[in-house]
Amino acid sequence: MSARTGLRQFHRWVSMAFTLTVIANFVAMTRGTPPARITYAPLLPLALLMITGLVMFALPYVDRRGGRAGRETLAARS
Ligand code: HEM
Repeated sequence: MSARTGLRQFHRWVSMAFTLTVIANFVAMTRGTPPARITYAPLLPLALLMITGLVMFALPYVDRRGGRAGRETLAARS
């Protein structure tokens, strides 16, 4: 598995973990003010999503700056 595929899969699975923490917040809020560990639980997965997401966003542009090899990578993908 290439590093890029791994990054994409990591982003995908962390997005599921993030979604669960958000749902947990809504469920907990039906029982009054949730404890801090639930309130702040989405922050770690969200930070990981932001970092991996920004890297995935930047990769095609980084490739393009790489000259011929980079353009070939982009052409092969489209
Ligand atoms: C926080 C900032 C985030 C950034 C900067 C970001 C960025 C990205 C980028 C650039 C892609 C690749 C798009 C492509 O070229 O096909 C992507 C894919 C994706 N993102 Fe995010 N994302 C963020 C947060 C999230 C969140 C909050 C979720 C859901 C809870 C999420 C779920 C996904 C999923 C499911 C994919 C598709 C992954 C795959 O192809 O397997 N992302 N994101």
